[in-house]
Amino acid sequence: MFNRRKFLQSSVFSSLGLALGRKAWANDPGAGHLVTGSPIVISTWDAGIAANKGAWEILGRNGRALDAVEAGVMVTEASQNCCVGLGANPDRDGFVTLDACIMDEFANCGSVAFLERIKHPISVARRVMEKTPHVMLVGIGAQQFAVSEGFPLEEQKLSDGAKNSYENWLRKSEYKPVINIENSKMNTETPKSGPGPFAPSRFDNGEWNHDTIGMVAMDAMGNLSGSCTTSGMGFKMRGRVGDSPIIGAGLFVDNEVGAATATGQGEDVIRMCGTHTVVELMRQGYSPEQACKRAVERIIKIKGDKAKAIQVGFLALNKRGEIGGYAIQKGFSYAVKSDTQEKMVQAGSFY
Ligand code: GLY
Repeated sequence: MFNRRKFLQSSVFSSLGLALGRKAWANDPGAGHLVTGSPIVISTWDAGIAANKGAWEILGRNGRALDAVEAGVMVTEASQNCCVGLGANPDRDGFVTLDACIMDEFANCGSVAFLERIKHPISVARRVMEKTPHVMLVGIGAQQFAVSEGFPLEEQKLSDGAKNSYENWLRKSEYKPVINIENSKMNTETPKSGPGPFAPSRFDNGEWNHDTIGMVAMDAMGNLSGSCTTSGMGFKMRGRVGDSPIIGAGLFVDNEVGAATATGQGEDVIRMCGTHTVVELMRQGYSPEQACKRAVERIIKIKGDKAKAIQVGFLALNKRGEIGGYAIQKGFSYAVKSDTQEKMVQAGSFY
């Protein structure tokens, strides 16, 4: 538990910084040095290393955390990745559909879901935040908005990797929706162990693979922002949207307290408002790792033994620059970058 007085004092300084920050950013994005801080960025899974480098191009020059978290995950969106961006695995009907959200230090947020043929959903989410009175746009409406903002409509074509995976999936899998509700009779269609059709991908060697990139960062002003982007679970039902574009589920930022992001089976993150829960636990005084652990334990409590077949991981950063993560299953790792470190960290897990 940390000292509440110190926390309140730091909150007063943060508020002061925030007030200064508003003015400074409005006039000069390079004015981050006015308030000292130690920039840091963390993001989920191995792809986080390259994404953090992208974010550091901005953070390392005392740029704004919001710009950094957008630029960072754009690296992953542009890469050939199974689970993020247009190169990712499609839904059951063979279409890649993308979800993303972004949130800044003023609690501004924007989100897109079920977005097709747009290379950088995270940037469309940011435009929703900055150019509309709304938080979330979905489907064809989100696509129309993106096009009206000048985003090119990409060709509807699976990457070679995704085409292979989809063809394999079509060969092996029953082409019908599977319901994954507690006590549902249809639940027998979910394998007893290992991932269900909605679970994150698992390599043949049994390790859990990533399904999302979530990133949270603090800039030199001490301000926090976060981003989260995914194609969702491979071979999902058409129209299915997970936690990643949902503020409070896949991503949450409270500039007084901390920021958190989630990865894994989105349905189970949504039902307990995952990242909002993590941030509220940090507000109560839990460290980032402890907050992530308590949130995972809440999922275990809800799911009981069924939690053995799913993966969810949380990643958090508090206002003091402390970081931590925790997952249901072994194998969740996250990437860290600051002035003094650049590394992967293996998170603790319930099982
Ligand atoms: N966490 C990604 C998803 O459930 O879509």
